[in-house]
Amino acid sequence: MNRVCENPDLVGLPPIRSDRELPERIVHPREPRGNAVRALVQQLEPKTQRTYTPTLAVLSKSAGIFHWTPDGRQLYDFTSGVLVANLGHNPELWLERFWHYLGWSLPQRLTGQPDGPPTNHFLPAAPLTSYNALTELEAEASRRLLELVRSRPGGKRLEQVLWAASGSEAIIKALWAALARDRHRDIILATRYGFHGKKGLAGATTGCETDRERDPRVRFISFPMNECRDVSLRDQPFDPTPYQRELDALVAQYGQRITALITEPYLGGGGSYHPPKAYLQLLQQYCREHDWVLILDEVQSAFGRTGKWFAFEQYEIEPDIVVLGKGLANGVPGAVAVGSSDLFAALDYAEGSDTYSGNPLTCAGVLATLDCFAAQDILGNVRKVSPIIEEELVRLKDLPFVGYVRGEPGGMVWGVEMWDWAGRSASDWANAFVLECYLGDGPTGIHLLGPLAKKVIRIAPPLVITPEQARTAMDLMYRWASRLLQACTVCP
Ligand SMILES: Cc1ncc(COP(=O)(O)O)c(C=O)c1O
Repeated sequence: MNRVCENPDLVGLPPIRSDRELPERIVHPREPRGNAVRALVQQLEPKTQRTYTPTLAVLSKSAGIFHWTPDGRQLYDFTSGVLVANLGHNPELWLERFWHYLGWSLPQRLTGQPDGPPTNHFLPAAPLTSYNALTELEAEASRRLLELVRSRPGGKRLEQVLWAASGSEAIIKALWAALARDRHRDIILATRYGFHGKKGLAGATTGCETDRERDPRVRFISFPMNECRDVSLRDQPFDPTPYQRELDALVAQYGQRITALITEPYLGGGGSYHPPKAYLQLLQQYCREHDWVLILDEVQSAFGRTGKWFAFEQYEIEPDIVVLGKGLANGVPGAVAVGSSDLFAALDYAEGSDTYSGNPLTCAGVLATLDCFAAQDILGNVRKVSPIIEEELVRLKDLPFVGYVRGEPGGMVWGVEMWDWAGRSASDWANAFVLECYLGDGPTGIHLLGPLAKKVIRIAPPLVITPEQARTAMDLMYRWASRLLQACTVCP
């Protein structure tokens, strides 16, 4: 592996400007190469360092459920990227299929058969861009995706696709389609504290009323966060009354102006809240009664996260548009809105076009991903490993700063909420938890995302994690989290 930057002093570059919005510079012990990368990135792209993380792991290689750092540390990946690498990192079968679809082979000069100056060489393979043109890959990826979604219970309204370059763009296109069907119907309902992206209408339907730059067309509705704050509440009866009242009030105020309702099946970025089925079914009932387009944002929940192919199966609903991203191509960027042909017909020709949507790389990634799911019992593995992880997460509640555990029953995504304790805030405990797991025991650690909603630890390993790997990793997590108590000087 090449060294990216030898010199963390960044000779010749301007000094880091002091900026109170920047998180503190992160430096870890015995990580000279990682620290050099962190220093360089913090200087050159200080505002593009994703969302806050106390670790800022530097990754050099990944395979299966593991990452390796340039300093030789091995990390269990409990993030799957950010719920992207459902099949694990770089599965050989996936790579083999991906290369096959793209028609890639090693150039002869790399296989040791010199045959002329390299600059004249081009590989006859799938184009990497296909704007104003079509590829068989795109047609095949659309066909197979539709075949899949329509074969699942609840997928029968999904008839056509709108490709996009990222999850938020696919959300925007889905919302455009809903708005295009009648320009007098301009109000969109969105579940409060949802996350649909940061750009345009996706950003407008994210968060809540008090966030910056609100779009007057968006109204937020309550999500039953309290009712699902912990796995122990899963079987409690659900009282729909307050939610019905709220929806009725919106109907009374806006009537036919409401055109669509968008929600995630569970609030992901908002803190991993997995609602009772009856809640999503109630939303669907209002959509049907009032002719609202039901847009289900499955950017992170699809492709096995909930233990089913799609969350709409898990929650027994039938959306009008489903938005897929992240795990769709196991790491190759791309997303898609899948919806009813009537809805998409309302968009003008090419209204949803852009340079990269439906590009051959994405489509090859989608096809390779579908091939891998067909060849392996990924969902069967999720069913086997899910209870092992969940039991261990619930054990973490022995620690006084661990408050709640939430998750998808039989799935592979949880949130562990920290509490204020011993004079330290929940957010401090959450950051300390993430950092302690990262530092682990030196050569080994666990990679976690920076806390959701500042205090919730996201647990989302690749769906291919084995029972043994899950037991070992969870054992380590418990041990390292317990160390926080031993090291705490202010704790009773
Ligand atoms: C549920 C959900 N919707 C939309 C998005 C936005 O996707 P992207 O980051 O690809 O734009 C995300 C990203 O985290 C997400 O979790």
